[in-house]
Amino acid sequence: MTLNGSVAFVTGGNRGLGAQFVRALLEAGASKVYAAARDPRTVTAEGAVPVQLDITDHASVLAAAEQAQDVTLLINNAGILTPTSVLEGDLDTYRLEYDTHVLGTLDVTRAFVPALARNGGGAVLNVLSVLSWASVPHQAAYCAAKAAEWSVTNSLRVELAGQKTQVTALHVGYMDTDMIAGLDGVEKADPAGIARIALEGVEKGRLEVVADPLTRQIKAGLSLGVEALYPQFAQACGHHSPAVHRRVCPRRRRAHTAYDSAAPVRHSATSGFGRRVRRRNSTSRHPASQHPTSRHPAKERTRQ
Ligand SMILES: NC(=O)c1ccc[n+]([C@@H]2O[C@H](COP(=O)([O-])OP(=O)(O)OC[C@H]3O[C@@H](n4cnc5c(N)ncnc54)[C@H](OP(=O)(O)O)[C@@H]3O)[C@@H](O)[C@H]2O)c1
Repeated sequence: MTLNGSVAFVTGGNRGLGAQFVRALLEAGASKVYAAARDPRTVTAEGAVPVQLDITDHASVLAAAEQAQDVTLLINNAGILTPTSVLEGDLDTYRLEYDTHVLGTLDVTRAFVPALARNGGGAVLNVLSVLSWASVPHQAAYCAAKAAEWSVTNSLRVELAGQKTQVTALHVGYMDTDMIAGLDGVEKADPAGIARIALEGVEKGRLEVVADPLTRQIKAGLSLGVEALYPQFAQACGHHSPAVHRRVCPRRRRAHTAYDSAAPVRHSATSGFGRRVRRRNSTSRHPASQHPTSRHPAKERTRQ
């Protein structure tokens, strides 16, 4: 996939990582870059073509795809982050996360598949997360949705190989965008740099781009067993007490190499990704975020 001369379509192209994708693509010589946004007036990149798109609205998805029949690279970037506890979180918040990351991404991709095929195959880049691979307490719905989006991405890759469409997954940790603006005390990557790394991966034909050290550490932990990612469940070895085992057992230390150096995602329920993000839900930024599924039917009844 060559970026120079490509026609790209970026969802959530008005701000955050999406806006950086738009800029990087224009710099790389893309002949056209559609920057899709719920409110296209918020697209500011000079040279980009603003398109209205709410990825949770099927009619909006079809209209956007109709407008961009020349696309050769689709970037599924749009996303939300809701603070949701697995036990107490509202199920409608779960639905909104799924509607956005899983079904929204799938609906957009399906709508663009015929155009990609006609234009020679092209590529799809899905923006996933380190949290596709590890769960944290206060963002349970986001983690579940990003894990499911990873699975959908893998299915798409297999099925789209037949029409020569490359499907690349970007996994990334903290980035300095509105999404985690209220999260202090962690190192955040520059989204402009992450956009460049991801696009370089697409251009090189990579199926997966693991963009930062934290995400690489967590990925390494996947092959070491569930205790490597959730060390609070590590069993004692039989030679030491659990407390001593946790500190000294060489078996455990080996198993935890990856996780232990992924400093921000640590044992405490309130550390790292598990920290509560001190800000409003990123869906509330925009009036269009008053998504119907975010309203709980019971609450609606109470209001009436
Ligand atoms: N920031 C991080 O630390 C981090 C880490 C790993 C992965 N990610 C992923 O990176 C991607 C970009 O996030 P970001 O950090 O750039 O967040 P952001 O600054 O909050 O931007 C989110 C973008 O998604 C758009 N969006 C949300 N819901 C939408 C919908 N239903 N239809 C169309 N557009 C919608 C927003 O549009 P509006 O302006 O209309 O709200 C905005 O353009 C997401 O998929 C996110 O999960 C982020």
